[in-house]
Amino acid sequence: MKIVVTGAHGKVGRAATQALLHAGHHVLATDLTRPGFERKAPGSADYRMADLTDAGDAFAVIRGADAVVHAAAIPEPTGNPPHVVFQTNIMATFDVLEAAVRFGVQRFVNISSETVPGFFFPERDFLPDYAPVDELHPAHPQDPYALTKLFGEKLMDAAVERSDIRCISIRPSWVQNEDNYEQNLGPQVRDAAVTSPNLWSYIDAYDLADAIVLAAESDLPGHEVFYIASPDNVGGHDFAAVLKQYYGDAIELRDLERVDASGISSRKAMDKLGWSPKRSWRDYLDADGRALPKR
Ligand SMILES: NC(=O)c1ccc[n+]([C@@H]2O[C@H](COP(=O)([O-])OP(=O)(O)OC[C@H]3O[C@@H](n4cnc5c(N)ncnc54)[C@H](O)[C@@H]3O)[C@@H](O)[C@H]2O)c1
Repeated sequence: MKIVVTGAHGKVGRAATQALLHAGHHVLATDLTRPGFERKAPGSADYRMADLTDAGDAFAVIRGADAVVHAAAIPEPTGNPPHVVFQTNIMATFDVLEAAVRFGVQRFVNISSETVPGFFFPERDFLPDYAPVDELHPAHPQDPYALTKLFGEKLMDAAVERSDIRCISIRPSWVQNEDNYEQNLGPQVRDAAVTSPNLWSYIDAYDLADAIVLAAESDLPGHEVFYIASPDNVGGHDFAAVLKQYYGDAIELRDLERVDASGISSRKAMDKLGWSPKRSWRDYLDADGRALPKR
């Protein structure tokens, strides 16, 4: 398939591009970064620069695609003014999806976020109703980033109502790769008291990329939402015990598939996409949260 990957130079887009190329797809990568003028390396993606908040740019890159993986966004709400986060994420998703609908693209993979229920960046206290959190949890986002992710999912709902496009929204947990495992997760591995707003969950960038390939290749109809989080938690803690210790009875504990379960369930992705995560923080960090020597 010819697949356009937006945000292709970002953390998620880079891993997705490599995984899609590895799976044999033709990838047109796009991002805000200026293109070079070097000979294309064999087996690499084509590249086109585009600001996707500009509808003309979006239509120019989406034309001719069989599928789109939309990973371009500002990935959190604190490093930019709120209106910039909101405007960028909403308009980029709107423009890319609008182009995909008008050009008859068959499959749209929308990279949403674990934050949709209200996780991670609330201005006022927020706790999930239950854990592990799944796709059925009510959405109460407060911040401009999570709102754009909820609204992005709504745009997918509308697209499948008004056209034959099939959409999958993937809600990744906090994405980790070899460059940031130690910095991001090391403190929590050492000490579960370093609580996280997403209940000690995370996802390996390459396991996420595998899910993105499955989503791009999927023939599931309509619009489906999938959480993608590692099945284990950061630090391998006894989840029921740490939930009780740090949150008391404030969060209802639901069935766990393993003692060291994540605070987010990806059961639906395993059952409906056939996703089977293969990596863990343990491949990158020792029991003290320090980076293992690179293999
Ligand atoms: N990083 C995480 O932990 C995480 C977790 C959940 C969801 N997500 C989502 O995954 C996606 C990718 O995040 P990431 O971590 O790779 O972020 P990133 O910042 O590394 O990559 C995002 C890319 O989008 C590009 N971009 C931004 N504005 C653009 C515009 N107007 N036009 C074209 N490209 C634009 C950026 O240049 C960047 O390369 C985002 O939708 C993000 O919200 C990320």
